[in-house]
Amino acid sequence: MYTREDGGMVPAELARHHQGVYKDIIRKAILDSKTRKIDFIAYSRAPGIPQALYRTRDAAEEFAKELNLPVIGVNHAIAHLTSGHLFCKVKDPVYLYTSGANTQIIALEGGRFRIFGEALSIAIGNALDKFGRELGLGFPAGAKIEEIAKDGKYIELPYVVKGMDVEFSGIITKAIELYRKGYSKEDLCFSLQETLFAMLTEVSERALAHTSKEELLLIGGVAANRRFREMLDRMCRDRGCRFFTVPLEYAGDQAVMISYQGLLEWYCGRRGDKEVEIRPYERSDQVEVNFKLSI
Ligand code: FE2
Repeated sequence: MYTREDGGMVPAELARHHQGVYKDIIRKAILDSKTRKIDFIAYSRAPGIPQALYRTRDAAEEFAKELNLPVIGVNHAIAHLTSGHLFCKVKDPVYLYTSGANTQIIALEGGRFRIFGEALSIAIGNALDKFGRELGLGFPAGAKIEEIAKDGKYIELPYVVKGMDVEFSGIITKAIELYRKGYSKEDLCFSLQETLFAMLTEVSERALAHTSKEELLLIGGVAANRRFREMLDRMCRDRGCRFFTVPLEYAGDQAVMISYQGLLEWYCGRRGDKEVEIRPYERSDQVEVNFKLSI
């Protein structure tokens, strides 16, 4: 994975990094898996930074040519969602997708993954990192904030839920302002977690009520936070719903979900793309769900 100390992203640097590592990683993965037969190459064509998507597309094409295989481009966000069906055996959940760059409450309705609510400005992971940067915690900051929060007490922070959407940036600004005024980092980390996670718990509960679904599935890197999982689990138990989290090593970005998504589409008759393309701006609700969610 490409990371920088400051948590930033320089697209050209990112592409250079991927260019340097992809061959060895893919070859090692194939050897480690002891795979005997490969039917197709799946790659992430959407959404994301174009430079990274182009790099992936070129690599997929290169391997496909070398091995004479078809190529299937999938949507990365959809792959996060369906990976829950692989790992947790959920049937028809509300999906809570929380990562560095994404915060969305999603459910399948009428053949599409509908986005019921989302973060209006920055996503939850970026919000925590922004506060972490102020505290000099490095990147990513989520785990350190969780650790520091253990010794904190509650301080009131703004709580911003607008219908099914959440807004984190003003809360982070306020927390930074209080930190500069001398409030303790323990209290601020604790209060920030309680507030942001309570907002997401509230909208998740509302999505469950609205859709009459009985499962909540948490995906994305922020699933690593124990307090977050505890709050969601408690809310689900109170409502008689079931709460699931994909195993932590698969909660963030990984290639298993891309292969699995390719496989779902392969099983439903997709046999390789004529045009191997990228779709940087394709959202989850633009993809027609014409495949089964489990095999
Ligand atoms: Fe992701």
